[in-house]
Amino acid sequence: MAKLNINGSTRDVQVEPDTPLLWVIREQIGLTGTKYGCGVAQCGACSVHINDQVQRSCSIPVGNVKETDRIVTIEGLSPNSSHPVQKAWAEVDVPQCGYCQSGQIMAAAALLKQTPKPTDADIDAAMTNICRCGTYQRIRQAVHAAANTTSRT
Ligand code: FES
Ligand code: FES
Repeated sequence: MAKLNINGSTRDVQVEPDTPLLWVIREQIGLTGTKYGCGVAQCGACSVHINDQVQRSCSIPVGNVKETDRIVTIEGLSPNSSHPVQKAWAEVDVPQCGYCQSGQIMAAAALLKQTPKPTDADIDAAMTNICRCGTYQRIRQAVHAAANTTSRT
């Protein structure tokens, strides 16, 4: 049994403490925007925010998450896809197959919170998510576009 704060709601889940947070998010809570890629903290498809930091949920046992930790998934990033990163992603038309993209967006949103005007080097250092379709150039472009939007508001 665990109590989790996900996207602003407290949820009770019946799981073993060593269950990866990713499976709880997807299977117990039913939020399937967060994806399974590698399962070993390499690809970033499972990225969520915990207390505003981007984390790879496939490699976090649910027993390590406190009731007071604020978990945000792609579904909770904004009420209607209006987060500056989501808007920039749509404008630039970043996704190809799309599978990695919720993780990419969560990584970009966390980066911009910490570094509102990132350089290409900052983006490359912070965003180690893998995209098998090779959308890296468009990801960079969209991060810069989102940074410009954010700095205007
Ligand atoms: S599924 Fe978590 S990092 Fe790949
Ligand atoms: S868009 Fe296909 S894996 Fe990234």
